Amino acid sequence: MSLTPSEDRNVFLKIISHAKEYGFVFPSSEIYDGLAAVYDYGEYGVELKNNIKQLWWKTMVHLNENIVGLDAAIFMHPLTWKASGHIDGFSDPMIDNKDSKKRYRVDHLLEAKADELIEAGKNTDAEILLQTMNQLLAKEDFVTLKTLLETEKIVCQVSKTANWTEIRQFNLMFSTEVGAVAEEANKIYLRPETAQGIFVNFLNVQKSGRMKIPFGIAQIGKAFRNEIVARQFIFRMREFEQMEMQFFVRPGTEMEWYNKWKETRIKWHKALGFPSNKLKFHDHEKLAHYANAAVDIEYEFPFGFKEIEGIHSRTDFDLKNHQALSGKKQQYFDPEINQNYIPYVVETSVGADRTFLAVMCNSYQEETTQQVIKAEDGTEKSETKTRIFLKLHPCLAPIKVAIFPLVKKDGLPEKAKEIMELLKYDFNVIYEERDSVGKRYTRQDLIGTPFCVTVDYETLTDQAVTIRDRDTTEQKRVPISSLYSLISDAVSFKRIFEQL
Ligand code: GAP
Repeated sequence: MSLTPSEDRNVFLKIISHAKEYGFVFPSSEIYDGLAAVYDYGEYGVELKNNIKQLWWKTMVHLNENIVGLDAAIFMHPLTWKASGHIDGFSDPMIDNKDSKKRYRVDHLLEAKADELIEAGKNTDAEILLQTMNQLLAKEDFVTLKTLLETEKIVCQVSKTANWTEIRQFNLMFSTEVGAVAEEANKIYLRPETAQGIFVNFLNVQKSGRMKIPFGIAQIGKAFRNEIVARQFIFRMREFEQMEMQFFVRPGTEMEWYNKWKETRIKWHKALGFPSNKLKFHDHEKLAHYANAAVDIEYEFPFGFKEIEGIHSRTDFDLKNHQALSGKKQQYFDPEINQNYIPYVVETSVGADRTFLAVMCNSYQEETTQQVIKAEDGTEKSETKTRIFLKLHPCLAPIKVAIFPLVKKDGLPEKAKEIMELLKYDFNVIYEERDSVGKRYTRQDLIGTPFCVTVDYETLTDQAVTIRDRDTTEQKRVPISSLYSLISDAVSFKRIFEQL
């Protein structure tokens, strides 16, 4: 059954508060009322995010013989951003409200209007509005775009007026200065994408790794963009993490590789557990300044289908410009065809934070059951119980096993800690002895722990424990000696790769 937009919004609000309450995501510097579009990952959030990043690294680097990793610095020579086109072309059309002085991204204002239309059941009007917007953006026709804002009667959320300035381009890069003197010559940028660290190291890696084309270089790291409108929780942030791979190919073969990477990457998202009907491709109508073909993989968040990954055919745009500005040849000698050339590049670029958000949205479950309660006088009444749990893929779950002694005495804590010792070097294990076992199960459900192991009096004699499955809540008795292989089998990345 599909949810209405307001039900979707409610679910999303629940996910945001769940993320905060259970240690996944906190607003940054919250004691100072936060910093817009910046977030911190809590004790379980950091584990989940690390698992996503490790999985991506394993998939891209360890399982592909022709892809290697890199960890380039965030600060780069300022000419990098001239060559990459970010100084001249990395901007968004913005508009200011003259009354409130608040600045907006024009596409965000129109998208918000389209959301309103969808909420009112006017899906066709929303579609036409978005199509018109995309055409005007592609043509950079800012005059007609402003007219569109006016005819749609879009007003500023703060002043409630439509007293708009003209539309202007606004660069999204953050800048700072290196050294003690704040002169223009010392100005450097916080990287808006990790990709350029790969391009400037293309020849270093090709030579040191004796790489033969086609080959890829992968990197995970922070990127920074001065996003004007902070929206949708961690979906659009000013500081975020990208997992990017640049695949260097022989010119003329780029479309073949582009199509191959499109299919490979969507399979990865499906293997994470996202259902096929919640994923789709969206071809770009307005291509980035570096691309000759580009597609987004979109996931259906509670606020609609939105980009989680971009796949771009970047031609030789970046390497050619780095060659021109640095004066250093960026060529590869291809022994198979006996030719020197600047390779073409196909890029896959996925946001670690957006994947995290998609995983949270996909795994948040509210399961209601009817329970018959017997009163003291013998009468029965039916009660609705709701169990909230995160149905995370076990290999992504922050904690793999929770170990509980049934009571805090009689040698049960010692036995539980013995089991913990057996498991803790290979799995993230938690020990919990407070509250009833039922409450301890609930707590682990809320953070998505796939297994809970309870040590009881019988354990001391039969060397067996009760293991409870998060998704089915089924409990079974297993020997302690089989725990390691049972857990290892369920939480191994291999489970994900079997589905690829
Ligand atoms: N190197 C190509 C590139 O940066 P992009 O489509 O601008 O392409 C790639 O970004 C991915 O980075 C997006 O699909 C998204 O997952 C993530 N991303 C981009 N901007 C973001 C933001 N402000 N907050 C969170 N994630 C972002």
